[in-house]
Amino acid sequence: MNKADIYKIRDDFPILSREVFGNPLVYLDNAATTQKPQCVIDKITKMYCLENANVHRGVHFLSQAATDEHEASRRTVQKFINAASSNEIVFTRGATESINLVASSFCRKFCKEGDEILITAMEHHSNIVPWQMQCDYYGLKLKVAPINADGELLTDELSRMITPRTRLVSVTHVSNVLGTINPVDKIVKLSHAQNVPVLIDAAQSVQHCRVDVQQLDCDFLVFSSHKIYGPTGVGVLYGKERWLNDLPPYQGGGEMIESVSFDKTTFNSLPFKFEAGTPDFVGTAALAAALDYLTLIGIDKIAAYEHELLQYATEKLLSIPGLRIIGNAGEKSSVISFLVDGIHPYDIGTLLDKMGIAVRTGHHCAEPLMHELGIEGTVRASFAFYNTKEEADKLVKGVERIVKMFRNVKR
Ligand code: ALA
Repeated sequence: MNKADIYKIRDDFPILSREVFGNPLVYLDNAATTQKPQCVIDKITKMYCLENANVHRGVHFLSQAATDEHEASRRTVQKFINAASSNEIVFTRGATESINLVASSFCRKFCKEGDEILITAMEHHSNIVPWQMQCDYYGLKLKVAPINADGELLTDELSRMITPRTRLVSVTHVSNVLGTINPVDKIVKLSHAQNVPVLIDAAQSVQHCRVDVQQLDCDFLVFSSHKIYGPTGVGVLYGKERWLNDLPPYQGGGEMIESVSFDKTTFNSLPFKFEAGTPDFVGTAALAAALDYLTLIGIDKIAAYEHELLQYATEKLLSIPGLRIIGNAGEKSSVISFLVDGIHPYDIGTLLDKMGIAVRTGHHCAEPLMHELGIEGTVRASFAFYNTKEEADKLVKGVERIVKMFRNVKR
C-alpha cells in the first residue's frame, strides 16, 4: 500500500482526525485496542435504529432480521479464519472469556490431579490466570516453556516439556509485549505428535496476518473483536467440532438449553450450547462489518505494510542513544517495546501523551514476562495499518525531545 492508500484509509476512521492537547492524535496503542472505521460505527447505529430485537427468540419480523444478521456474522467469522463449519464459532465477550471457557470446560472434563497444562513465558495474564485457577481447583501443574534473550520461544524445549500427563498446550500466536510471532504451525504439529491438543491465543495476530484454522490444525483459537477494528465486548472462540461437542457447557441460562425441567436440563446443539443469555448481536454484526472491511483491503496487503512500518520505526528508534528494544525476534509483528537508559517508561509515556502521541506503558498484563526479562515495564508503541511513517517520525522526535529534556535536567 502506498502513502495515498493509507491516507485514504485514515479517512475511514473518524477518531484519527481529532487532536489531543492541541496536536494531531498519533495513536500507537493498537495492541491495547484498535480504532473503529465508519462502517463499524454505522452498523451499530443501523442495528439499533432498524433491527433491534432479541435473537433466536421471536417469531416477529425484527427478531428474524436480527437473528439472520447474527448468524450471518457467525458465517463471516467462519470464513475469515477458514473454519470448517459455523458450528465451530462461539461468540463470547472477548478472548479472555474464550480462554476461561476452554480452561473451565476442558479441565472439568479431561483433567485430574497431577495432569499438566503447558503455556509459555510470554503469555498475557489472560492465558495464565484461567489455567492457574483450574490448576488450583483440580491439583494440576502449570508448566512454562522458556524464551531466549531475543524473546523467541524455545520450541525444542517446549516439545521436551510435553509429558504423558500434558493435557493441553496453550500458546499465544503473537506476544503483546515483544511482538514475537510464534511458530504456531510447528507447535501444533509437535504437540499433536504427542497427542496433545493446542489452544492458540490469536488476540494479537488475526488483525495482522492471515489465520487459517484448518491449515494450522489447531484445536482451539481465540480472539477479541475490539483488537480487530470491531466493537468492544465481543470475542470469538473457535473450537474443532469434536472438541466442542465433547466439552460440557460453561455457563447456564437462555439459548444454551434444549429443554429444562426442575429435575434435568438437556443442552442445545453447537454453537448455542456455549452461548448462555442474550448474545451481543449488535456487536457481532459490527464485528462482521470490521472483518468485511479488512477483507476488502486485503489482510496480506495489511501484513506487508505493517512489516514495512515496523522496520522503519525500529531503525529510527534504534538511532536514539540509550534506547534499547525489548523483543528482537526474527519474526515480529508491528509491536515495539522499548526502554531508554535512566528514564522511567511512565515518564516517557506521559510526556509523549502531551505531544498527542498515545503509547502504552507498564507491564502490559504480562507481569511474569517482565520478571523473566528482569524489568518492571516498557514503553510500547503498537502500529496498525492506518499508521504512517510520518507518525513513526513523530514518535522518534518525541522520544528524542524527552531524552534531551532529561539529560539537561541531569546535567
Ligand atoms: N492486552 C492488551 C494490551 O496488550 C490490553 O495492551
